[in-house]
Amino acid sequence: MEWKHCADTAALSNGVKMPCIGYGTWQAPDSGITVNNVMTALRSGYRHVDTAAIYGNEESVGEGVRKSGIAREDVFVTTKHWITERGYQKTIAACEGSLKKLGLDYIDLYLIHWPAVARCDPKWEETNLDTWRGFERLYKDGKVRAIGVSNFLPVQLDSLIRNCEIGPMVNQIEFHPGCLQRETVSYSRYKGMIVEAWSPLGSGAVLKDAFLAKIAAGYGKTVAQLCIRFALQNGVIPLPKSSSPARIQSNTDVFDFEISPEDMRAIADMPITGYSGFYPEDAPAESYY
Ligand code: A2P
Repeated sequence: MEWKHCADTAALSNGVKMPCIGYGTWQAPDSGITVNNVMTALRSGYRHVDTAAIYGNEESVGEGVRKSGIAREDVFVTTKHWITERGYQKTIAACEGSLKKLGLDYIDLYLIHWPAVARCDPKWEETNLDTWRGFERLYKDGKVRAIGVSNFLPVQLDSLIRNCEIGPMVNQIEFHPGCLQRETVSYSRYKGMIVEAWSPLGSGAVLKDAFLAKIAAGYGKTVAQLCIRFALQNGVIPLPKSSSPARIQSNTDVFDFEISPEDMRAIADMPITGYSGFYPEDAPAESYY
């Protein structure tokens, strides 16, 4: 692993560089709190912020980015397209809406938030492809520097990749100790994508896990730091979120230790822990953000 700082980057398949830790903003309110937390994150060294149209906080996230004092080209901003906006024209309009709310001229990475799936849409392949055609247009027009997907399983990736012109550059999925989605990670990489981890701390159950606490203590680190480091050592880009300035800062303090191969294996062998239960094939995903 070459990353030594959260501003260090992974290169996407089109050469665009994505900083290796992103500040996650799911459930962050559209208010001054989020503006301040985004500024805190950027001033603590993060250079990557992740939001989504459905989070309802793009205005505050954009304001935080703009007010942070960090040059726009030095910050990597991701947002996501929501499931109600599927289809070519609606996708173009949705992206324009996100750009307006963010108050930015371009988005660094635009993601399909959830795939259309066979169980809910008999034309799921066509639906995903129509949306993706919109993504390809936005990419060619320079509105977005990179395009990708989120929560796509191999079956949806395969269908999209067989039919698209420009392949997705990223797949953002749930990934943390106790939820590794090995098949999806391998397949995404095989098809040239960088994998990002949403919920890299697995929230409650993982953070309280006694086995992880013991390993973390051995390195003089918190369980949150162990989880972030675990993602990085797996080559997965973590997007930890926190509403506390102290924890936002401490979640970047992960470059002065290395998890041993034995501990990496032991963590990887943990039983399922802290899994959200958000399974794309079980969608409708209206309740999944
Ligand atoms: P808080 O906002 O109070 O810091 P994930 O990114 O995996 O979804 O996890 C987010 C959850 O983990 C939030 O509830 C957040 O709470 C908590 N969290 C984030 N960083 C830390 C940390 N360093 N220590 C403990 N809890 C944390």
